[in-house]
Amino acid sequence: MNSIDINNLQNSFHHAVNLSISPGAVSTSPTQSFMNTLPARITSAKLSKALKPFSTGDIRILLLENVNATAIEIFEDQGYQVEFHKSSLPEEELIKKIKDVHAIGIRSKTKLTEKILKHAENLSVIGCFCIGTNQVDLDYAANMGVAVFNSPFSNSRSVAELVIGEIISLARQIGDRSIELHTGTWNKVSSKCWEIRGKTLGIIGYGHIGSQLSVLAESMGLHVLYYDIVTIMGLGTAKQVSTLNELLNNSDFVSLHVPETPETKNLISGPQFAAMKDGSYLINASRGTIVDIPSLIAASKAGKIAGAALDVYPNEPAKNGSGAFSNQLNSWTSDLVSMRNFILTPHIGGSTEEAQSAIGIEVAAYLTKYINEGNSVGAVNFPEVSLRSLDYDQENIVRVLYIHKNVPGVLKTVNNVLSDHNIEKQFSDSNGEIAYLMADISNVNQSDIKDIYDRLNETSHKISIRLLY
Ligand SMILES: NC(=O)c1ccc[n+]([C@@H]2O[C@H](COP(=O)([O-])OP(=O)(O)OC[C@H]3O[C@@H](n4cnc5c(N)ncnc54)[C@H](O)[C@@H]3O)[C@@H](O)[C@H]2O)c1
Repeated sequence: MNSIDINNLQNSFHHAVNLSISPGAVSTSPTQSFMNTLPARITSAKLSKALKPFSTGDIRILLLENVNATAIEIFEDQGYQVEFHKSSLPEEELIKKIKDVHAIGIRSKTKLTEKILKHAENLSVIGCFCIGTNQVDLDYAANMGVAVFNSPFSNSRSVAELVIGEIISLARQIGDRSIELHTGTWNKVSSKCWEIRGKTLGIIGYGHIGSQLSVLAESMGLHVLYYDIVTIMGLGTAKQVSTLNELLNNSDFVSLHVPETPETKNLISGPQFAAMKDGSYLINASRGTIVDIPSLIAASKAGKIAGAALDVYPNEPAKNGSGAFSNQLNSWTSDLVSMRNFILTPHIGGSTEEAQSAIGIEVAAYLTKYINEGNSVGAVNFPEVSLRSLDYDQENIVRVLYIHKNVPGVLKTVNNVLSDHNIEKQFSDSNGEIAYLMADISNVNQSDIKDIYDRLNETSHKISIRLLY
């Protein structure tokens, strides 16, 4: 097993990606860039003990749907056996392949339903190399002791940059001028075209994307106001306002960066458009249900809204293709596409090469930490548990990873098994019906490991066990 310090992978992946982001001139892969940063850390890496799995043999990982090469590099470097497929697999083939693997990496097309998962005899972990996880039966996976990871924030910068581009494009009506010239019309106008310097951007939702956008916007001379349900320290000179209306009343551009929740459905509708400044602009690259689009069209036709940029829609086509965005999908589509100074993009906010690389590195790092050390921090369906790494020179030590039903009395039974040894550290947490215990026990002879495994295996509420040594 390789001795690279996986603890540092996640902390470093942003840095790794940054090393190669000159557009069109990517000469070094992000993973390679990441690996290039390792020598400085080798000394500390050697201080961590590389653990070996007991009873699982070599780790086998199945990667589908052209998961980014950054992930393959990381897994191969760990010595895992990687099987890679460019596309998703037909159900029957997937059932055959999932039987033996310890880990599987997918994107959004592979559906990991109960029907498929129940054939996975050795599976410990699923990596969704994308944002969403609704293609996986998360509860069923948790009940089999399988942790699921994704990458919700690797594309934040890509979204923030798109919004900056849209702010300028709307202020200068670039979309309309471009469409006109594509169809032979020369229309050199300056009326109602503006610089963005000195204007006010109102950001609704000051999380990963909203806060990045805030920094970029200020550096271009915009004033930034933001509204969030949580009190958050503003970056730069950005100022939090206490009500949504205060933001709407005072912003020239309003950009939405909230999650989809019952509270955010139609967050921006008729009354909110009425509260916006005359001639202001709306940008939505968050989720399609957050803006009431017929109200937006009405506000624009009434001259209240000078333009809008939409990247997301209540219903979106399942695949690319001409004719896919039609009234059949959303009844108002033909009205929307006829609007002047409306920029419409097909949910591409996070779709960049850099974001894909970052997703590959982030999810591969989660999987590697879970496989090698048992750390489940970041799992979406599972208790999040971690223990600090073992020192490289620690002998006769075993890490116990015990996933079980969350019922009374289990820890007593497990600690009874472990109590013949010294429990160096232990951490347990639960999430609904599932609980996860990690413990490092010392004074364990090699010959004791099988006995510990067998005794834990017989405990009544066990879901799955792994021992690392
Ligand atoms: N267009 C794309 O391709 C794309 C890509 C990535 C993310 N997204 C979407 O962008 C949105 C923001 O993503 P993020 O990563 O910044 O999320 P985040 O969780 O980091 O931030 C969301 C912020 O919204 C705040 N919030 C929640 N409910 C609110 C409410 N009712 N009013 C005001 N603020 C509220 C939260 O407190 C948080 O600060 C999400 O909807 C996400 O799905 C879109």
